[in-house]
Amino acid sequence: FTLEIDPEDTDKGAYPYYMLKEIDEQAVVARNIAAHYFDEEGQLQGIGCAITDKMKEADRLYIVAAGTSYHAGLVGKRYFEQWAKIPTEVHIASEFAYDQPMLSAKPFFIFLSQSGETADSREVLYNVKKQGFPGLTLANVMNSTLTREADFALPVLAGPEIAVASTKAYTAQVLVQAILASALGNPGFDLKAELAKVAVEISAITDEKETFKKIAETALKDQKSAFYIGRGLDAAVSLEAALKLKEISYVQTEGFAAGELKHGTISLIEDGTPVFALLTQKKTAGLLRGEVAQVAARGANTVVITSKSLTKDGDAFVLPEVAELLMPILAVIPAQLIAYYATLDRNLDVDRPRNLAKSVTVQ
Ligand code: AGP
Repeated sequence: FTLEIDPEDTDKGAYPYYMLKEIDEQAVVARNIAAHYFDEEGQLQGIGCAITDKMKEADRLYIVAAGTSYHAGLVGKRYFEQWAKIPTEVHIASEFAYDQPMLSAKPFFIFLSQSGETADSREVLYNVKKQGFPGLTLANVMNSTLTREADFALPVLAGPEIAVASTKAYTAQVLVQAILASALGNPGFDLKAELAKVAVEISAITDEKETFKKIAETALKDQKSAFYIGRGLDAAVSLEAALKLKEISYVQTEGFAAGELKHGTISLIEDGTPVFALLTQKKTAGLLRGEVAQVAARGANTVVITSKSLTKDGDAFVLPEVAELLMPILAVIPAQLIAYYATLDRNLDVDRPRNLAKSVTVQ
């Protein structure tokens, strides 16, 4: 197995922006992660039993992160709950730090961070250590504060992520959480084989750039606001999709639980309001179709991104299908590319959006 991403490679190469290069690297990152955490025989490796033993003692997991990493935690929660059967909460670091909820008797903390230096997350790690609770950091930059200060640390192996808008670190964090959860409980399918499929399907999607360029240039033309909606895991991905679009194109974008729209927010829908619907979860597909119809009836320009077995005429993009709990890794890629092209269309700096830093090392 050879690293197809040179860990020292911080050059754009032929790419116009790091973000596009890092979106394209996600297939290789998925393969790197699988090769690092599974041996040739498909056995798990690289996760010491010290970690899994400690996590098995816990009666509740607390995932703490910021921004995109927080959104990755919202997906990881499902893996720890459905495969490892451990109740799991996900918290925004800056909130948890000063508004700590009542904790279970035997909590275990998971810190997700690309940089490993986010001050909000470090504040929480410092506080929980003071209370004597164990913690693990999943980070892209090892030998960072969050990896050094936690009891345990695991790499997410995305390679250097230069663009301020995080892409490959998100999918890498989701993948490593899935692998960690599979070390604690049975996913019910061959995760290593599924990860190989995920890598192939990521490439299939990133090969469709023209489709997403067209979607971005039509649906978002002259638009100042937009929505991403979904239910369940698709609602979690909608938050990440919305962050991608707003942080680099400056289009005010809300990621919203579709079922909640009718409780007020739907009043914002006007003629032409772009509403992207992520529809990959079978259980709620019918309800979400209804919500798409609701916003369309109020003039929204709906763009449905769905999966093969759930698609209907008029959908904008049909994702290839992998295990349903892993669909967030595929569903986020159109959103990454739509954000990229919407930003290009506005002649903005994709890699260095205004007012933002790659790592927020102040509270
Ligand atoms: C995401 O695109 C942003 N760059 C930002 O929200 C980032 O995810 C957040 O600041 C957390 O950073 P970390 O993963 O390095 O802790």
